[in-house]
Amino acid sequence: MLLILCSKRFDFEDSRWKQLYRNGALIFSSLPGIDQSIVGLRFRLFKAISSSKNYRDLQKARKFLYNIAKQWVIEKCARRSFGSKEINDYLDAFLVECEQEKHKSFNREQLIAYLIQFIAAGTDTSANTMYFACYMLAKYPKIQEKVQKELDDVVGCETLPSLEHRQRLIYTEAFLREVDRYYALAPITPVRINSDEVTIRGFKIPKGKNFLANTFKCLRDSKYFKNPEQFDVYNFIDERGELINVKSFMPFGIGKRRCPGELLAKIEIFLFISAIIQNFSLSLSSDENNERGETKGIIKTLHPYKVIVKRREALHTLRPN
Ligand code: HEM
Repeated sequence: MLLILCSKRFDFEDSRWKQLYRNGALIFSSLPGIDQSIVGLRFRLFKAISSSKNYRDLQKARKFLYNIAKQWVIEKCARRSFGSKEINDYLDAFLVECEQEKHKSFNREQLIAYLIQFIAAGTDTSANTMYFACYMLAKYPKIQEKVQKELDDVVGCETLPSLEHRQRLIYTEAFLREVDRYYALAPITPVRINSDEVTIRGFKIPKGKNFLANTFKCLRDSKYFKNPEQFDVYNFIDERGELINVKSFMPFGIGKRRCPGELLAKIEIFLFISAIIQNFSLSLSSDENNERGETKGIIKTLHPYKVIVKRREALHTLRPN
C-alpha cells in the first residue's frame, strides 16, 4: 500500500515500519467502538473526557503519523518540479491536482490528512482479516482441504496464484467472503453527518445529524444468509456451484463513503492467503477459541494464537515471480 501511496517500501523487520504500523493500529483501537456506543453522543463524550487513556493514545498516534506524513509530502514536493505531470504514486497524482487549483480541497494539509487516514485504515484492517482467515483454515481442516484442492486443480504447483486464476477459484473466493462476513471487522461504520435534510422510509432527518451503519446486523441477517450464525462457506455458493452476490453483504460499508481501499484489500488478502495455503497446511496447536475476536475500538482484533505450519509435501517450493 505504501508503494502505491508514496513509493515507499519497508523491510518487515524495519523499526520505522513497526512504529508506523503500531501507531496506525493505535488510532483504530483508541476510537470508541460498538461496545462504548451511545450513538451520536459517543464522540462528543469521548472528546470531553480528554484525560482518558484512549483519547491520549489517539492524540499521540495522530501526532506521530502527522509528522511522518508531513515529512513525506515535503520530501516529495522537493523532488518534483512544479507543473510536472509525471505520476508515480498517489502523492504525485494529488499534487498534480493541487497545482491545477481547480478545487480548494486539493491542498497539502488535506493530502497529509489523507495519508494518515490511509495508513491507519489500510494496515491493521487487512492484517486482522488475514489473521482471522488463517485461524479459520487451521480450525476447520475440511475447509482447508477444499481450498487446497481447488488451488491444486486451478493453479497447480508451477506458479503462485494470481488475479487471473481468481475467477475460477469459486470456493476460495466464497471462503474469503465468508471470512469478511463472519468476522465483521468493522461492526459499525464511522459516524457520518448528512449535509442535507433527508427522508428515509418516512422518517425526516434534519441536516447535520450523526449517522452510522450497523454492518454487523446486515452481515448476520437471516433474510439474506442461509446460515448466518455459522461459519459456512456455502452462504456464498448456490446450488449450481456458482458464487452468490448477497445484497446485505457490506463488510466495507455502504454508499459514497464506503471503504476506498476495498479493491486493494481484497487483492492483498486473496494473494497472501491463497499463496500460503497452496504451499502450507495450517493446524491449531491447542483448543483455542478465537472465532469472535474482540472489538477493540472501532475494529475487531484477535487474541494471539499459535498455529502449526507444515510445508505441503507434494509441492515444489514456489517463489513469487
Ligand atoms: C479487510 C479490509 C478492510 C475492511 C473490512 C474495511 C472496512 C471499512 C469500512 C467499513 C469503512 C467505513 C465505510 C463507511 O463509512 O461506510 C472503511 C473506511 C475507510 N477505509 Fe477501509 N477497510 C479495509 C481495508 C482498507 C484498506 C486496505 C484501505 C487503504 C488502502 C482502507 C482505507 C479506508 C479509508 C481511507 C476509509 C475512510 C473513508 C472515508 O472516510 O470516506 N481500508 N473501511
